[in-house]
Amino acid sequence: MKAIVLKPGTTQIQVTDFPDPIIQKETQIKVKIIAVGICGTDREEAIGGRADAPQGEDRLVIGHEMLGSVVEIGSKVSKVKVKDRVVISVRRGCNACEPCLASRSDYCTTGNYKERGIKGAHGFQSTYVVDDESYAIKVPDELGDIAVMAEPMAVVQKAIQEAILLQSCRMNWIQNPNWSQGKVACVAGLGPIGLLACAVLRLKGAHVIGLDRAPPDGIRAKLLKAMGGTFVNDKNFDMDAFRNKYPDLQLIVDAAGVAQFDFNLIELLGPNGILVLTGVPAEKPQFPVNGSKLMRQIVLKNQIILGSVNESIQHFIDGLHDMQEIKKKWPGVLEQFITHQFHYTEFQKVFEKHGSEEIKAIIRWDK
Ligand code: BGC
Repeated sequence: MKAIVLKPGTTQIQVTDFPDPIIQKETQIKVKIIAVGICGTDREEAIGGRADAPQGEDRLVIGHEMLGSVVEIGSKVSKVKVKDRVVISVRRGCNACEPCLASRSDYCTTGNYKERGIKGAHGFQSTYVVDDESYAIKVPDELGDIAVMAEPMAVVQKAIQEAILLQSCRMNWIQNPNWSQGKVACVAGLGPIGLLACAVLRLKGAHVIGLDRAPPDGIRAKLLKAMGGTFVNDKNFDMDAFRNKYPDLQLIVDAAGVAQFDFNLIELLGPNGILVLTGVPAEKPQFPVNGSKLMRQIVLKNQIILGSVNESIQHFIDGLHDMQEIKKKWPGVLEQFITHQFHYTEFQKVFEKHGSEEIKAIIRWDK
């Protein structure tokens, strides 16, 4: 079969022949890849950043946001059948810490977890993959190609669900079972994670302000507005004016992963608000921060700064469900999140810069 492989720590990346994966356990499934999404983590890997090959190997098959079709199943597989469309999760637990033993490797405490396509395990940018059925989630047929965004959607589910859970738990005088209903929320960075977060928050009844450097007449602003959100261009951002206009931001989701801007987001947070960070900032030189002012604010305003990485299987299930709801509520919008598609033989093009007109770029393996 073919695969896109990277020599970790370098920019050497190519399509190459690779041994076909084989079903070795009764609970495993073999999947033919339909498409694989590209995200900031893949881009970081491709420029020599964070990536690890499996132990004893010097190359890594990249890709962790997949959609595929089952072509073969082991004798004890019960969740899926041949021809089902599935997505497969990313992280594999260390098998030693409490969260991993409880199937919550997203909370791994040893750091010895693996991530397919990222850390110590081959990813999904290949003709076929094999995995245990416990990591596969069946995809409703009506979702079509947009199911390739199930992994970033699962990231969004974890971040938003946890933020809402914490808020509704500590503000237990709020009778509305849906804490986010009617609240003003802000999402920073309107790439795929940011726009998916906007969609989920809109579904949950929040007023959503989306911040991005993209032009107000571009695709990002257009899609946000189509879902009833408000677009604010943050290129020459006037913090004070924004804070005066939105003094009561109860929930901010960071999907930009720009460390310096994250500190601005803390300042924008309203009383009792929560900031949830999903973007992984690149390692950069130190920068000055008014630490005591921020810490004082966080204490005096009961604020929470929450980091959120990866997801559980349930977050995939919830995310696929929300995708169906979003599709019903705003027909044709999610489809437009996929702005760029390339055949795997042209994968280099996916790493070219497409500016703010790009939301999600995917690589196709089915054509
Ligand atoms: C992936 C997560 C992963 C994280 C850290 C993200 O791009 O979507 O699944 O846990 O990177 O490696």
